[in-house]
Amino acid sequence: MDVAVFSSKSYDRQFLGAAAAGKHRLRFLDPRLSAETAILAKGAGAVCAFVNDQVDAAVLAEFQRLGIGLVALRSAGFNNVDLDAARRCGIVVARVPGYSPDAVAEHTVAMILALNRNIHRAWVRVREGNFSLDGLLGFNLRGRVVGVVGTGQIGAAVIRIMLGFGCRIVAHDPQPDPALAGLGVRYLALPEVLAAADILTLHCPLTPETRHLIDAAAIARMRKGVMLLNTSRGAIIDTAAAIAGLKDGSIGHLGLDVYEEEAALFFEDRSDRMIPDDIFARLLTFPNVLITGHQGFFTTEALTAIAATTLANIATFEATGHALHEVPGSRA
Ligand code: NAI
Repeated sequence: MDVAVFSSKSYDRQFLGAAAAGKHRLRFLDPRLSAETAILAKGAGAVCAFVNDQVDAAVLAEFQRLGIGLVALRSAGFNNVDLDAARRCGIVVARVPGYSPDAVAEHTVAMILALNRNIHRAWVRVREGNFSLDGLLGFNLRGRVVGVVGTGQIGAAVIRIMLGFGCRIVAHDPQPDPALAGLGVRYLALPEVLAAADILTLHCPLTPETRHLIDAAAIARMRKGVMLLNTSRGAIIDTAAAIAGLKDGSIGHLGLDVYEEEAALFFEDRSDRMIPDDIFARLLTFPNVLITGHQGFFTTEALTAIAATTLANIATFEATGHALHEVPGSRA
């Protein structure tokens, strides 16, 4: 099958190319998918899209016109897809669920440790011959309360690691996991989790319900000086509210791998240009904020698994009309 791969990077060429092994013709396209670029998929039977590709009604209508039957997301999240429009256009949407929860979980924990012990600041100081410890004071993790919002595959992996540090875990999820409860995780209503956590980490999907789940009111419920992590999707946090919380000390540390307006910034080298986004630029001014550019998934193991499952989705769709991991609700 001919597959148009949008937002292609060198690593996509490497891992998807290897997994395709000549069985599918992959057309690697640099541009991000949008209504303007959808036409580039002309001639393909399937499209492969990533997290900031815009799979909206206009794009899907264009794909229908071009005879494209499958959008194979090379991501777990699918908040960037208009599933109603996909159903109307008869286009199947597939994704890669749980390709490597450990990759994102370990990145989350790396951010917790870096923020807590100010590793990002210490690295800069030592390079400049500044060995002062003033301002680098951290806290022990043992005995701290970690609040986990969303205890699916990634949240569960974070919990298992943090239990190893001797943390106590409180969690909120509309579908509690009995196995985690058996490990001592206390499931509570969200306001109670917000009030109890020394460290609060977000692992729920972005849905209309979770958009700005962490807003000014939620921040007001948290413990003063809380460490807040978001490695899920940017818009789960109201960034303006987070900035206000950082300014008045309500938030003591903020670690972000995702940002609500990341589509205009992330995955590109913009180091020779100014940052046009004033809210993002403000975030960069805080010493207690650590931002990575959506790299939680970026391990060899995860990219290998993403490529294998993406190609399996494409192969099963080609053979049967059904992809291996269809997004629930995308088919009429
Ligand atoms: P999952 O589907 O295994 O788990 C999500 C959990 O969130 C489920 O248990 C679900 O019941 C729960 N949930 C749904 N609504 C909720 C709500 N309102 N409050 C609390 N919990 C709620 O998904 P997985 O694999 O753990 O991924 C989680 C998210 O991580 C994805 O949706 C994606 O946005 C993000 N992600 C980020 C990556 C990165 O590179 N930073 C890579 C992969 C995923």
